Amino acid sequence: MSIKYRKPKGTRDLMLLEMERWQWCESKWREVLARFGYGEIRTPSFESTSLFTRSVGSGTDIVDKEMYTFESKGGESFSLRPEATASVVRAYLENGLTRQPGTVKFYYMGPMFRYDRPQAGRYRQFHQVGVEAIGSSSPVLDAEVVRCATSLFEAVGADDLTVQVNSIGCENCRPSYVDDLRSWAQGKKDEFCDTCVSRVESNPLRLFDCKNEGCQKLLADFKPISEALCDDCKDHHTQFCDTLDALSVRYENDDSLVRGLDYYTRTTFEISAGSGLRQSALCGGGRYDYLIGQCGGPTTPAVGFSAGVERIVRHLYNQEYDHQRSRQSIVDVFVVCMNRQAQQFALQHADKLRSVCRVEIDTTDRGVKAQMKAAVSRESSVVLIVGDDEINNNQFQMKNMETGQQLPVSNEDLIAAVQEVLAK
Ligand code: HAM
Repeated sequence: MSIKYRKPKGTRDLMLLEMERWQWCESKWREVLARFGYGEIRTPSFESTSLFTRSVGSGTDIVDKEMYTFESKGGESFSLRPEATASVVRAYLENGLTRQPGTVKFYYMGPMFRYDRPQAGRYRQFHQVGVEAIGSSSPVLDAEVVRCATSLFEAVGADDLTVQVNSIGCENCRPSYVDDLRSWAQGKKDEFCDTCVSRVESNPLRLFDCKNEGCQKLLADFKPISEALCDDCKDHHTQFCDTLDALSVRYENDDSLVRGLDYYTRTTFEISAGSGLRQSALCGGGRYDYLIGQCGGPTTPAVGFSAGVERIVRHLYNQEYDHQRSRQSIVDVFVVCMNRQAQQFALQHADKLRSVCRVEIDTTDRGVKAQMKAAVSRESSVVLIVGDDEINNNQFQMKNMETGQQLPVSNEDLIAAVQEVLAK
């Protein structure tokens, strides 16, 4: 066999057992999100490029290096969405939701696209589950949003997590901090790595994102942003942390948590697996009080987060991740058919069985042994065997896979007999 087509680099085929895990996680998350008062939003997979350059920000890796941008036949520039916050804000404004009373709360699940260097846990098409809560500047909402994120992890049994929080200030206190940082770093350009040197001019705060040990050491000499916050930002952060304490959410303050997107003000946070290494971030978020204004709406405070689904599923199932990948989905009843008539007979009677359980009819025309092997691989509790005799007598041979017992069961008694086995 020579396979002619391969998936694009950095993408994955989600299927079989892994897909079942995703669906299970998604159903748990939908329950949690509904309980926190979020309603689902699905926005387009592509938007005007300028939406992302304005919001995520030019000077960020996402916009400068990672966007899939193309020109439409009509000559407009579009980009596959690298994240969803900007799209939710666009939809909030375009659909006139500014007049809604109270906080508007959306959640989303879906694919995002970033032309990133692929590696374990980092893909070019990946999926996020996230929330955006629009319309309140209260630090209590920031804490509720963090609690919502930790609840998503709890709901799927993810533990060994680290929550890191920070405040990166507001329009009043951040600009002078950034100016000081830029001037200080300009004097040390020779000592920073090449990426940092370019960030000194374009986006000095992002120096703190650098993984290079030398750069980190240098930055340790510069005052952290927490020391430059204005009184309002300090108050906000204190109330945010106090609320997290009251909710018993365990967290660490991390002065260097600046996040890689431009729209944040005040609260930023990340949730990582175990060690708390930034590279292993499972979830990131924060407050963005100016973004809606920048997108043409009235100044409206907002806060949200997004979590990477691939990374969460990987964190949950790390050890058995690969060797079980090609397992097919489980069925309750597997029908072994001796010939084509038997397949037809089975299909005619499958509807009523399918009203109570999951049924697979084998139509491969293979021998009984091969079909039984398939039944075992699908973890069926009941195998029904059909040949000419069964058709003539309007019945099935029913094998209980746990006890090995095999009995003829008439068509009328089939549902009750199958249900009895499944109930055990
Ligand atoms: P972000 O930190 O860029 O934030 O992404 C959030 C999460 O998406 C990351 O923590 C990670 O789990 C996952 N992720 C990001 N890039 C990749 C990738 N290439 N492959 C696999 N997973 C990835 C945002 O996207 C913001 N929109 C979060 C937000 C919402 N802030 C406020 N509201």
